[in-house]
Amino acid sequence: MDIAALATTRRTAKAFDPARTIPEPLFDQLRVLLRFSPSSINSQPWHFVVAASAAGKARLAQAAVGRYAYNAPKIRAASHVVVCCVRADAEDAHLAAILAREQADGRFPAPEDQDKQRQARAAYVDLHRTVLRDVPQWMEKQVYLALGGLLFGAAALGLDACPMEGFDAELLDAELGLAARGLRSVALVALGYRGTGDWNAALPKSRLPAADLFTEL
Ligand SMILES: Cc1cc2nc3c(=O)[nH]c(=O)nc-3n(C[C@H](O)[C@H](O)[C@H](O)COP(=O)(O)O)c2cc1C
Repeated sequence: MDIAALATTRRTAKAFDPARTIPEPLFDQLRVLLRFSPSSINSQPWHFVVAASAAGKARLAQAAVGRYAYNAPKIRAASHVVVCCVRADAEDAHLAAILAREQADGRFPAPEDQDKQRQARAAYVDLHRTVLRDVPQWMEKQVYLALGGLLFGAAALGLDACPMEGFDAELLDAELGLAARGLRSVALVALGYRGTGDWNAALPKSRLPAADLFTEL
């Protein structure tokens, strides 16, 4: 795969073809991508709400109002829309669930390995909680990593995507009852096939010059 070609040709879709649906086996590959996204200390502080039905997408579109109204048609016309959510906290029960999963997945060959891992992870959580005081931002960064992977993976599968921060998160969280589940929404990703009216499709890509971005040591 020519990843440079993919990076320079993929474009955020600004309009979707409402008649085209992503085949489920293809979308399942994106689910795998999200599930296997890397995260600091394997914290996996995310949850993904997927809307593929018209009713589900209509619920999400309710949060694209006012200044965000320009995003509503994309949400309605896309094949699938993913709500990328972050956990409200790195709570003990979540950390215990990760550890138990790692144990079940065979990551602790020696008996003491599990406790070493528990302590190492707890030390990082404590650092972010008490010294850096940035647990919410730290966890959001992990969600954005997953979002980046999703965008690139979608392009690799020949799908179009539109990441969106342009929505009313308070409205969406209330609509989906996210707070009660210990979650909040951070971004949406509409996925499908671009449609007519996609003004971004034919425009050249624009990025700052490489010379400004890289420092070689
Ligand atoms: C986190 C994030 C949030 C974005 N929010 C929106 C949005 O709300 N609506 C929209 O049309 N595009 C949105 N975009 C798309 C960007 O405008 C786009 O990625 C950028 O202009 C570069 O264009 P390209 O993706 O076509 O290369 C967002 C992109 C990212 C990464």
